[in-house]
Amino acid sequence: MSKLCIRDLWSLKGNGEKISMLTAYDSNTAALLDDAGIDIILVGDSVGTNVLGYASEKEVTLSDIIHHTRAVVRGRKRAFVIADMPFMSYHASASTAISNAGRLIQEARADAVKCECKGELVQNVKAIIAAGIPTMVHIGLTPQTSIDMTSKGRSVEEALAIIELAIEMEKAGAFALLLEKVPLRLADLIMDRVQIPVIGIGASNRCDGQVLVIHDILNLTGTQYKHAKVYRDVRKDITEAAKEYSDDVKAGRFPSDEHYFKMKDDVFEKVVMQLKSNMKAD
Ligand code: KIV
Repeated sequence: MSKLCIRDLWSLKGNGEKISMLTAYDSNTAALLDDAGIDIILVGDSVGTNVLGYASEKEVTLSDIIHHTRAVVRGRKRAFVIADMPFMSYHASASTAISNAGRLIQEARADAVKCECKGELVQNVKAIIAAGIPTMVHIGLTPQTSIDMTSKGRSVEEALAIIELAIEMEKAGAFALLLEKVPLRLADLIMDRVQIPVIGIGASNRCDGQVLVIHDILNLTGTQYKHAKVYRDVRKDITEAAKEYSDDVKAGRFPSDEHYFKMKDDVFEKVVMQLKSNMKAD
């Protein structure tokens, strides 16, 4: 099974096939998503709140993303791996943006980077793309710099600005867009105007693909969002399993016979004899 490349993602769109994308932050989960046929694995800055216990994604560092991306890359066989550029890793200047994006490709071995884009960040994001680094551009709601998490593009000005940005980023050479939390009608207008794949999150079924956070589809954090769907209640399963285990340990039910390691009779007898003769010698 060969690893997907950007051309394969473009072909999926060209053939009218939807692109599936989920986040993962560790090697084992990446392997499971890969086996399940997920096309793109995103090592999102959502690692901060979902895995590292940070209060917000603003605390996530480039080192965090490098560490987790390396793990994900080790676990995947087929899926395309995208590393998220964390807050402040591409904000200060075009040159730091390029060198930090480069580290995600060279050190973390990601196939591409994703950056949130709006306002002052446009120039730095364009610089990353111009440096030849495969880039997915995240528009609409951009949580790293948004003052609230409400949907975007509901006013005329905001909707036009998001459409313009989508077109500008395609022209700049982004290989795909990630469109977060915008009204269905705005997603439609964008879909009619760009050729590159548009992956939606809370942005309608019209998009070429969908992304969700693995913790949300498994209900691992217990927070439910309008844009997401819970496919399994793993939070409940983990809590119940841990409680059953704890009860078994306290009641002496675990470990039982099948979990013990055996010693052959003759070995045991020799050990006992040796212990006895050691005692006599003392
Ligand atoms: O960090 C992340 O998980 C993301 C998704 C919400 C798309 O950017």
